[in-house]
Amino acid sequence: MTRIPWWRNAVVYEIYVRSFADADGDGEGDLQGIRSRLGHLRDLGVDALWLTPFYRSPLADGGYDVADYRDVDPRFGTLDDFDALVADVHAHGLRLIVDIVPNHSSDRHPWFQEALAAPPGSPERARYIFRPGRPGERPGEEEPPNDWPSAFGGPAWTRVDDGADGAGGGEWYLHLYAREQPDFNWRNPEVHREFEDILRFWLDRGVDGFRIDVAAGLFKDESFCDLAGRDRRVSNGPIYSRPEVHEVYRRWRQILDGYDGDRMAIGEVWTDGPEDLALYLRPDELHQVFQFDLQLAPWSASAFRDVIDAAMKAVAPTGAAPTWVLSSHDSIRHLTRYEHPAGIPGTERARAKAALLLLLSLPGSAYLYQGEELGLPEVTDLPDEARQDPIFERTGGELAGRDGCRVPLPWSGEAEPFGFSPGGVRPWLPMPPEWAPMTVEAQASDPSSMLSWYREALALRRRLADDLPEDLEWLDSPGGTLYFRRGPLTCALNCGDNPVRLPSGTPLLTSIPLYGDLLPGNTAAWLRTP
Ligand code: GLC
Repeated sequence: MTRIPWWRNAVVYEIYVRSFADADGDGEGDLQGIRSRLGHLRDLGVDALWLTPFYRSPLADGGYDVADYRDVDPRFGTLDDFDALVADVHAHGLRLIVDIVPNHSSDRHPWFQEALAAPPGSPERARYIFRPGRPGERPGEEEPPNDWPSAFGGPAWTRVDDGADGAGGGEWYLHLYAREQPDFNWRNPEVHREFEDILRFWLDRGVDGFRIDVAAGLFKDESFCDLAGRDRRVSNGPIYSRPEVHEVYRRWRQILDGYDGDRMAIGEVWTDGPEDLALYLRPDELHQVFQFDLQLAPWSASAFRDVIDAAMKAVAPTGAAPTWVLSSHDSIRHLTRYEHPAGIPGTERARAKAALLLLLSLPGSAYLYQGEELGLPEVTDLPDEARQDPIFERTGGELAGRDGCRVPLPWSGEAEPFGFSPGGVRPWLPMPPEWAPMTVEAQASDPSSMLSWYREALALRRRLADDLPEDLEWLDSPGGTLYFRRGPLTCALNCGDNPVRLPSGTPLLTSIPLYGDLLPGNTAAWLRTP
């Protein structure tokens, strides 16, 4: 019998390190905090953890601006803490994936500091992307080298400060994200060697895999031509998904395979077509890519079905398993996205429970985001001065940014910091007082809580896993519903507001009690089918 790789059907739990659990009392989560809460993750029933970046960083973009790829930021702990965490995670029977950020570093990274101090054309500048500006409309004015926008607002170029001696040379540097995140020049072999070495550094410390940040962005068109109205993410356009990027992942795959058959990589790949996504999943490239469409879909049976069909079709030729996501540290929490348009209270919670059954009954792996197991909503009323996401600042407050899904987790107690930090410490983002009934402690012993629901559904998925085929079969579905079958398991999701007749089978788990053989609105059920 061929062995199924661990990630193929895994439920992976994303830990936003800064907001998970704070052991040292500085108001920010840390590695020791994670160690102290592994029991929660084991009881929850996930298979693996993905840690967002914990490397040395000024946190201009929550740690996705790395100043030292081989060290832990003192706010988050030490390398010894990391080693202890790896050992504990494995002792709990879990796997550990870490984030790797190859598209850009922090502007505090020694290489970028060296680049700023060196003249145009120097080897130090050749590790990043520096270009002369273009003449502006008026004499003496200068514009960025091209029209590329930063993902966070404003141009993707910043002019180097010339300094009193003019040593900056008047060049501009590229940053697809914040100006504190200069893009590496992947046409420079030194950058390749550096990242291969970084991968080995963490593999040697025992990580089971990598989540590759901005995986499609590494190579830019050498002509640096304007986008001229095209979407910045267009595949094989000047910025993303250029053919050269695949050579990098082929090389990385060899490195992963050189350890043992159990190390994996999942790419954060935004593309505009399934064919393009499949390129990353060729047998000698990445093991998985995130498929974000479920996260982008509205609460609609037909939208879900289209997304599921397309996602499965996209990976089918590659032999890789699909991946499913409802929320992440970059998106509005799905509980809040699922609010009823007519404002019917409680609908969002019912839908979030139902959505979990959908997610967990699909073939492939599911990526959960911390706090969804507690039914946390997006925090939409953070005070402006508390917000830290560069998107908020760069858009002049026009976009709220991503802080609302990054509020620290409530663990216990009646008031902030809800056990996230030791008592009396203020967490880095304020926590809503109405979270008191949502703490892990409050929910753990309540069979009707969201946490109990997650535990039950995950436990049942685990029990059924071996009997489920890798594909699914759509069943006749009344309007507004989604019914499908995977061998002995039928999943029925009713996205409408009115009850519908259940498909045949014996109910195993339902997100709210059934009325006889009717499935209420905004509800899902798992049934055993003979
Ligand atoms: C990815 C991360 C996001 C970050 C960006 C730049 O999209 O998920 O949080 O801001 O890359 O590194």
